[in-house]
Amino acid sequence: MRSVKTLFFKNNTLYILNQLLLPRKAQYVKCKSYKEVADAIKKMVIRGAPAIGVAAAFGVALAANEKRFSSPEKLKKYIQKAVKALSQTRPTAVNLFWSLQKMKNLLSQKAKTPDELAQRLKKEALKIYNEDISTNKLIGKLGSKLFKKKSVVITHCNAGALATAGYGTALGVIRSAYSKGKIKMVFVDETRPYLQGSRLTAWEMKQENIPYVLITDNMAGYFMKTAGISAVIVGADRIARNGDTANKIGTYSLSVLAKYHKIPFYVAAPISTIDLNTPSGDEIVIEERSSDEVLYIHGKSIAPIGARAYHPGFDVTPSENITAIITEKGVFKPKEIKNIHPAL
Ligand code: MRU
Repeated sequence: MRSVKTLFFKNNTLYILNQLLLPRKAQYVKCKSYKEVADAIKKMVIRGAPAIGVAAAFGVALAANEKRFSSPEKLKKYIQKAVKALSQTRPTAVNLFWSLQKMKNLLSQKAKTPDELAQRLKKEALKIYNEDISTNKLIGKLGSKLFKKKSVVITHCNAGALATAGYGTALGVIRSAYSKGKIKMVFVDETRPYLQGSRLTAWEMKQENIPYVLITDNMAGYFMKTAGISAVIVGADRIARNGDTANKIGTYSLSVLAKYHKIPFYVAAPISTIDLNTPSGDEIVIEERSSDEVLYIHGKSIAPIGARAYHPGFDVTPSENITAIITEKGVFKPKEIKNIHPAL
């Protein structure tokens, strides 16, 4: 994993590792315009809350170089258009809106030339990228302290290096804990319908030689009862003011099972995932994705022709099911989240 980057920016081009091709192929998609970045986010070529935010920031930086602008004002107008398009790609992960806001903040500064502003936008996107990696390493370090030797953990979806600029949140904690000899086994939920667990998390675990076993989502309760699971650890797409947390569909069920089996349930996320403007999970917009993602796997139909299917991309875990939220500023009880200084 250390050699394969989720995304990188070089010669005014954004290279995005095509997650739709993993684990079979590690191939990059080249983006030279904000529209190409928006398309990659929408199609889930890149996904995961922090990664979406970082990609969108680079999308804005690319927009500034797409053509010649006769004045900073003309460039600002174009940037507003790019920000709008990028903000309409996926609704649930708040990191997208957080990073776009950071980029937009630069528009209120005076710039003598369009080039000066373009340079600032690029610098800011690179800063968001680099800070995401260092933030995740800190989350990993702080989170690893929660684990005892030989822990057996279960994770859902992919909250790893692939879901961020690098290192990962939930998988960052697992990486860090593993390096200290604290992880015996990781149970990886395959994560229906889009299989981020089997396609991406299992791939990351393999790259890092971390012992893992793949299970289907409906096996979680069985293994909680029989396999001595020490903790559940997941990422987050948006944490509301009261600590309710949106994450990949299936996370809520996992939290209910964890509570029943008295297993600690941890959420690992940067503070940019905390949305103090959203009072509770009830107000979080849940993305409805295409039912084809349920009805087909790799283009093959797995249901009767004409079958209807639901596909909410996320669900909300109520704060009372969460033992603690691991951030780069420390480990908090969900109810304490509202006191953390906002990331912007
Ligand atoms: O639909 P996805 O794959 O973008 O959903 C991703 C998740 O739900 C992750 O768990 C979340 O974004 C946290 S990533 C560090």
